[in-house]
Amino acid sequence: MPIITTKNLSKHFDGVAAVAKLSLEFRPGQITGLIGPNGSGKSTLINLLTGVLPWDEGVVKIGEDTTLSALKSYVAADYGLTRTFQEVRLFEQLSVLDNILLMLTERGVWPALFERHQSFHLAEAERMLGRVGLWEKRQALANALSYGQRKLLEIARALATKAEVYFFDEPFAGLFPEMAKTVAKILRELRQAGKTVILVEHNMNLIRDLSDRVIVLDSGELLAEGQPEKVLARREVVDAYLGE
Ligand SMILES: Nc1ncnc2c1ncn2[C@@H]1O[C@H](COP(=O)(O)OP(=O)(O)O)[C@@H](O)[C@H]1O
Ligand SMILES: [Mg+2]
Repeated sequence: MPIITTKNLSKHFDGVAAVAKLSLEFRPGQITGLIGPNGSGKSTLINLLTGVLPWDEGVVKIGEDTTLSALKSYVAADYGLTRTFQEVRLFEQLSVLDNILLMLTERGVWPALFERHQSFHLAEAERMLGRVGLWEKRQALANALSYGQRKLLEIARALATKAEVYFFDEPFAGLFPEMAKTVAKILRELRQAGKTVILVEHNMNLIRDLSDRVIVLDSGELLAEGQPEKVLARREVVDAYLGE
C-alpha cells in the first residue's frame, strides 16, 4: 500500500501548470528518486505535499484512510511529513544546537528555548548533530556556517521531527564529497529504519545508487516511473533531459 497517493493533483502559476493532473504513488520504506528537467515541477510537488503551497485541484491520500483536499504546513508534521528546501531555510540568528532543539518540542519557539536545559532534549539534539557531523559546530550561529554545513543542519532539523516521510529537495547540490557521503549515509539509515524518502537529485549516479524506484516529471506531468536502471534508459526520459 502506498504511503502517499496523489490523484489529479494540479497547481498553476499565472495560468501555467507547474503540476498538471498528477496521479502517482510513493511507497513506504523506500527511497524514491524524483527527477526531471529544471522547471518540471519537482519542488512544487514537494511544496504541495508538505503544505507550503495550496493546490488547485485533486486530492492527496496519506496511507489508506486519510484523503485530503487541502493541507496546511503546520499540520504536515501531524501527518508525519517533513522536508528540506532547495534554498536552505534556518533560524539564522540562533545557534546550531537551538535550531535542532526547536524541532524537538511542539510548544513553540520561546518555551522550547527556555526548556533547552532539559537533558533529554539536549542529548537528542546533540545526537542529531553527531549524525550529520556538526556536533563541534553546535554553539555557532546558523548564519556562520558554510553552505554545505547549512544543508547538513537543515537535514538534521528534518531528522529531529521524527517524521515518517522525508522529502529532500536537492540535498546533495553543491556539497563536497565528504558531506555528500554523510547525506547518502543518512538516506540509507532512514530507509533501514523503515522510513520513506523522496529524493530530488540531478546526479543520475546518485539516483541509481540510492533509489529503489524513480519517478520522472516533465512539465508537471508524470513521464515515467519504475526501476532506476530501466527508467533512466528510456528514450523519452533521455530526451527530456537532452531537451533542457
Ligand atoms: N512561486 C512560484 N511562482 C510562480 N511560478 C513558479 C513558482 N514556483 C515554481 N514556479 C514555476 O513552476 C514550474 C515548476 O517549477 P519547480 O517546481 O521549481 O520545478 P523544479 O523543482 O522541477 O525545477 C516552473 O515553470 C517555475 O517557473
Ligand atoms: Mg526544484
